[in-house]
Parts: sequence; structure tokens; C-alpha cells
Amino acid sequence: MRHSPRFALLGLLSTPALSAKSPKRGLVAVGNKDWPQDDAIFVREDSPISWYYNFHWNVSDTYASLPQDQVEYVPMMWGGGVNDTDFLTNMTEMIKPSSGAGRRNITHVMGFNLPDQPYEYGGSEMTPADAARAWVHNLLPLREKFGVKLGLPVVGDPRGGWVDPFLKNCSALNEDKACEFDFVPLHAFGHFGILKDRVGSFASAFPDVPLWVVEYGYNDQNLSTTQDYFNQSLAFLEDSKDVARYSWFGSFRSTVSNVGPNMAMLDPWGNLTDIGSWYLGGEATGKAAMPNDTPRTNACSAEHPCTGSDDKNAGVGLSSGRGLGLWSAAASGLVLLLL
Ligand SMILES: *[C@@H]1O[C@H](CO)[C@@H](O)[C@H](O)[C@H]1NC(C)=O
Ligand SMILES: *[C@@H]1O[C@H](CO)[C@@H](O)[C@H](O)[C@H]1NC(C)=O
Ligand SMILES: *[C@@H]1O[C@H](CO)[C@@H](O)[C@H](O)[C@H]1NC(C)=O
Ligand SMILES: *[C@@H]1O[C@H](CO)[C@@H](O)[C@H](O)[C@H]1NC(C)=O
Ligand SMILES: *[C@@H]1O[C@H](CO)[C@@H](O)[C@H](O)[C@H]1NC(C)=O
Ligand SMILES: *[C@@H]1O[C@H](CO)[C@@H](O)[C@H](O)[C@H]1NC(C)=O
Ligand SMILES: *[C@@H]1O[C@H](CO)[C@@H](O)[C@H](O)[C@H]1NC(C)=O
Ligand SMILES: *[C@@H]1O[C@H](CO)[C@@H](O)[C@H](O)[C@H]1NC(C)=O
Repeated sequence: MRHSPRFALLGLLSTPALSAKSPKRGLVAVGNKDWPQDDAIFVREDSPISWYYNFHWNVSDTYASLPQDQVEYVPMMWGGGVNDTDFLTNMTEMIKPSSGAGRRNITHVMGFNLPDQPYEYGGSEMTPADAARAWVHNLLPLREKFGVKLGLPVVGDPRGGWVDPFLKNCSALNEDKACEFDFVPLHAFGHFGILKDRVGSFASAFPDVPLWVVEYGYNDQNLSTTQDYFNQSLAFLEDSKDVARYSWFGSFRSTVSNVGPNMAMLDPWGNLTDIGSWYLGGEATGKAAMPNDTPRTNACSAEHPCTGSDDKNAGVGLSSGRGLGLWSAAASGLVLLLL
């Protein structure tokens, strides 16, 4: 669906800005401490983005003031929590704070990020049995007490070696009742056929459970291949009855991209690329993700060095502080997926 700025403006004048929202379209918010103004671009008033996640339990600073019904924040329990209830405590405090301030009507929470993969590849490295304990301690009560909808842990293989034992272990800890979940997040990197195959295999593994494609893209391709994929995949995801939500992996500058510059929604100066603008419902900007005549270092100042690199693991140079490990986690998880 296209959302031209004019349409958005008309929507704004008649009914609230919500008419410009795409209920499916979301943001993988990696966060940019060096250029926080970058983060704001994605949630401008006419933005079709209706939800975001940041691999974290707490909101992103730049989006903290936005109400849930403008941009829904979806917390994630990244990993851990095997023997504690810290995540549950934090969520409870967000949903039902002791003081009135900061209340957030959290309706969806995502489970662990790549628990089937080791830390060194960006996974949260949890055995099915540990993950089951963490789920019962932290996530199940959110569903039972607050009606929060839960996303199954993000894994490579829809059933396979991890999910089925996890569900068994979880049920054993839950008085033999099934550990229910409400949606299934997944990643898809590679050409369009891979996206279709992954959606197809998850849809058959989990019939009638909404799928969320929470990281996707055709990494390390030239511009025309990337743009063709972008348009084709966006149309597919919008039309797919199995897919409830999706989020393009690319809310960062091309200079620091670890999936190739062309997937980035921002150019070296933080201006929207064509793909970035299309994702937000706008027209092509004509801004090359990585202008040929511009050494990537030119885009960075002494105060805010950026260290873009072709080495995937060096891509972490982009963001300092919170989100750093998560970024590299997300990125290197992809490396494994591509094998
Ligand atoms: C959660 O994020 C908000 C917004 O950035 C911040 O005000 C708050 O202090 C954070 N909570 C904790 C416990 O860090
Ligand atoms: C959790 O507690 C159990 C029992 O005390 C212990 O065996 C296990 O090592 C702990 N696991 C983690 C990840 O802390
Ligand atoms: C819970 O919130 C505290 C801050 O209040 C934070 O330090 C901690 O990492 C959070 N833990 C989880 C698992 O969300
Ligand atoms: C929370 O949001 C959901 C979904 O938008 C809505 O149905 C529900 O009424 C809201 N609850 C509260 C207490 O605001
Ligand atoms: C978890 O499930 C697997 C597969 O069913 C089983 O082999 C294992 O014993 C279970 N572990 C625990 C702690 O229940
Ligand atoms: C882009 O890559 C595709 C696939 O690798 C190739 O067929 C095409 O010729 C390339 N286009 C340009 C302009 O380099
Ligand atoms: C992609 O879609 C946009 C409209 O959203 C269109 O303007 C553009 O020409 C398309 N690009 C390609 C490469 O198909
Ligand atoms: C790109 O962004 C910078 C910083 O926001 C802005 O000053 C500049 O005008 C933009 N460049 C173009 C060509 O739009």
C-alpha cells in the first residue's frame, strides 16, 4: 500500500494521523546515540510505522514520549531470566506502575532472540529447558495476568531441534498445560525466494498463528537488486495473510551497515535513501546509499566518528552504549542464518 505524504496530510485533517499508519509495518530500532536525530525520522507524524522493537525491555529514548497507539512499543525478553523474574517485574511496573507516571499499555512481548544460537553468533544461547524456565517465570504470567500476547522465541528452524523440546519442557513446568503463544517472529535474509520459503515453512509449522517477519532484507547486493527485492518483498508481506507484521532491517546509515550499504534507510549524512523514503511512504529521494565519490569517512566528524567497515563484526562501531551488543547480536545472528 502506498502512503503518499498528501494522503497522510488529508488523513491528518479528517481523522487522526492513524489513517496513515500501516498496521503491519514496523521498525527494528537499533538506536543511534551519535545521531539521535536519525531515530526521529522514522516516526514523523505522517510515518506509516505503527510499531517498533529494540531487542530490549525498555522503550528507546527518542520514542519514549510517543503513546502506544501512535507507535506501539513491543518489548523483547532477549535472553536470560532462567532463575529470576526481573523481566516480569519490569514489565509489570511498565503496565501497572506504582506511581501513575510512565504507564504503557503493553499488548505484545517478544520472547528470546535466537536462543538456538551461541553468543558468539549473536544468539542468546539457551537450552530448551532453561528457556522453558525463563518463559514460565517471566512471560507466561504476562499473558495470564495482563492478557499480553506473546511471541515465540525467534529461531532459525520453525520446529526442529529447539522449539519442540522447548514447548515440551515448558508444558512440563506448567502443570502439563501447553505453553501457549500468540504470534511467531522470524528472520529472513537472502533473495526473495528465501523470504517466501521461510514464511511458507513457518506458516505450515504454525497454522493460523500470525507471523511477524521482524528482520528481513537481501543483504550485500547492488542497488538495483536490493531495490527490486525491497519492492517485491514489501508487496508480498503486505498481501500475505500469514504475515501480521514486518520490519525491514535498515534503520541506520549506510556507512555503518553490516548487511551491505544498500539496505540502509539512511545515507551517510542521515538523509533517507530511496528505500528509506519508500518504507515511510514517500517518493524516491535519489540519495545513493553510498555515493561512489564519497569515502565513507567523509560523512563522519571528529566528535562523532563512525567506523563503517565491510567486516560484519566491525559494524558495531556505529553505536555506543545501549543497543551495541544487541546490534551486533542481531547482525551476527544473520551471518549464521545465511550459512
Ligand atoms: C526506561 O526508559 C525511559 C525513557 O528513556 C527512561 O526514562 C527510564 O528511566 C527507563 N527506565 C529504566 C529503569 O531504566
Ligand atoms: C538456575 O538454578 C538451578 C538450580 O538452582 C541451577 O542448577 C542452574 O545452574 C541455574 N541456572 C542459571 C542459568 O542460572
Ligand atoms: C529490569 O530493569 C532494571 C532497571 O530497573 C534493569 O537494570 C534490568 O536490566 C532489567 N532487567 C530485565 C531482565 O528486564
Ligand atoms: C490497551 O490496548 C489494547 C489494544 O489497543 C486495547 O484493546 C485496550 O483497551 C487497552 N487497555 C487499556 C487499559 O488502555
Ligand atoms: C526437555 O525436553 C527434552 C525433549 O523432550 C527432554 O529430553 C528433556 O529431558 C527435557 N528436559 C527437562 C529439564 O524437562
Ligand atoms: C546487480 O546484481 C545482479 C545480481 O547479482 C546482476 O545481475 C546485475 O547485473 C547487477 N547490476 C548492476 C548494475 O551491477
Ligand atoms: C519501487 O516502488 C516505488 C514506489 O513505492 C517506485 O517508485 C519505484 O520505482 C520502485 N522501484 C523499483 C526498483 O521497482
Ligand atoms: C542531508 O542531511 C543534512 C543533515 O540533516 C542536511 O543538512 C542536508 O541538507 C541534507 N542534504 C541533502 C542533499 O538533502
